[in-house]
Amino acid sequence: MPRLPRHSAAAFLPATVTLASLQSAAAACTGCDLYKQATQTVFGEGDAHARLLFVGEQPGDQEDREGRPFVGPSGRILDRALAEVGIDRRLVYVTNAVKHFKWEPQGKRRKHKKPTASEIAACKPWLDAELRVVQPDAVVCLGVTAAQAVFGHPVRLQDFRGKGQHLPSVGMVFVTIHPSAVLRSPDPQQREKAYQSFVTDLRSVGVQLKHRAA
Ligand code: URA
Repeated sequence: MPRLPRHSAAAFLPATVTLASLQSAAAACTGCDLYKQATQTVFGEGDAHARLLFVGEQPGDQEDREGRPFVGPSGRILDRALAEVGIDRRLVYVTNAVKHFKWEPQGKRRKHKKPTASEIAACKPWLDAELRVVQPDAVVCLGVTAAQAVFGHPVRLQDFRGKGQHLPSVGMVFVTIHPSAVLRSPDPQQREKAYQSFVTDLRSVGVQLKHRAA
């Protein structure tokens, strides 16, 4: 008999799968230890029939408090870039590879801590279920943690950036930087360069999808 992973969200999935049933079941997920530290589960949100599904890493401090993905500083970068390429955020679906905020104390702050491969794998049933319900034309991975969740193995940004890949179980997958990489750039010029490269990647998703549809 195949061995089940020690940590997994699989047992928490509802019998009937809709975005609403998934969100309410995920609120009670204790499939790995990250729920212990977090305020709440931050499930994906957006259009249930979205053509584009964005995957981030995990909720940040503000998302953990508000219970919604990408509402903090990284979300503002994402919103600005989406607006710049003419994508309405209300028409996409936005989620994370890991649904609980992982952090460590740094003075009075809660400092983001990268999820491990086993935490990413444990949370994958939620992402798989979101993908099954939404059935987007394309998935955009924001950063390598998202890409690791979607591809099921570690991914180097430079190997995947700029070109779409077709994954049989998912469809078209694109990989770009996480918007926090823009915020982490050391000076305004580099921040602008990183931001423009993010915008270019998002624009190219639209172009490549149009070419495939033509
Ligand atoms: N970073 C992420 O990856 N996801 C969020 O929801 C917020 C910040």
